Amino acid sequence: MTFRVLQFGATGQLAREMLALASDGLEITALSRAEVDLTDADAIARAVGEAGDLDLVINAAAYTAVDKAESEPDLAYAVNARAPAAIARACQARRLPLVHISTDMVFSGAKAGAYLETDAPAPLHVYGASKLVGEMAVLEACDRALVARVSWLFSAYGQNFLQMMLKLAATQPVLKVVDDQRARPTASADVAAFLLSQAPRLARAPAARRNGACCTWSTPARPAAMRWPRRSSSWPGPTGPRPPWSRCRPRPSRPRPDAR
Ligand SMILES: NC(=O)c1ccc[n+]([C@@H]2O[C@H](COP(=O)([O-])OP(=O)(O)OC[C@H]3O[C@@H](n4cnc5c(N)ncnc54)[C@H](OP(=O)(O)O)[C@@H]3O)[C@@H](O)[C@H]2O)c1
Repeated sequence: MTFRVLQFGATGQLAREMLALASDGLEITALSRAEVDLTDADAIARAVGEAGDLDLVINAAAYTAVDKAESEPDLAYAVNARAPAAIARACQARRLPLVHISTDMVFSGAKAGAYLETDAPAPLHVYGASKLVGEMAVLEACDRALVARVSWLFSAYGQNFLQMMLKLAATQPVLKVVDDQRARPTASADVAAFLLSQAPRLARAPAARRNGACCTWSTPARPAAMRWPRRSSSWPGPTGPRPPWSRCRPRPSRPRPDAR
């Protein structure tokens, strides 16, 4: 029997890792921006409504330009908050389960220990706030929605910190790297494999999957070249404020008994 997934996001790093896992028993229809622009709520409703037989919808698309979001809040909220709400409404209309990907950046970084799902979010920037509004809208609109908060994704695809460091290391003798933000770098491939392996059981229980050790941005950069640790506040150019600490407690690999 084939498990059919409709996925928003075809070109992003997590989206591509999920697509790489498509197999005989798992059919993923991934929608690119050209097929459905997430700023168009009618197009979203049509895409879900007319998708044929489906077992699950995954939203792996987002406005992820954290710094640029400070000057493009309308677009950030359109893609990260209003689009997920529209996807969730369309899923609810068809009684479909929805997995929506969110971020550790909903937290402020003020907590002393690892963040739990039950901790109150308090985003510091437009990106985090827009993702939080998206989470709330999804859980409000769809009975069968699950929000998975991931952190510091890296993969062989697209733009991510690891790719940037490798590129810089190939051309620059000294890397200037922020050394005062901590979270869990996470392999997009692991998130993709976990979510798809659990897909049939996913329901509305909040859950998150992260891996890797807690480290600062400069730790993964260390083997690449000499580094020059810097404080975030000394970074040149426009940046949104970042939580200094957003490490989340990893979930056990086995789903909770009450999760379907
Ligand atoms: N990257 C991280 O470190 C990180 C950390 C924590 C959480 N997350 C979350 O994890 C999820 C996946 O992130 P990612 O790193 O895989 O993202 P990504 O590589 O930046 O990809 C974002 C995807 O969203 C699509 N998109 C953006 N605006 C769109 C629009 N208006 N209409 C249609 N598609 C649009 C992009 O399409 P185009 O290629 O056409 O632009 C792209 O496919 C997101 O929810 C993100 O918030 C990411």
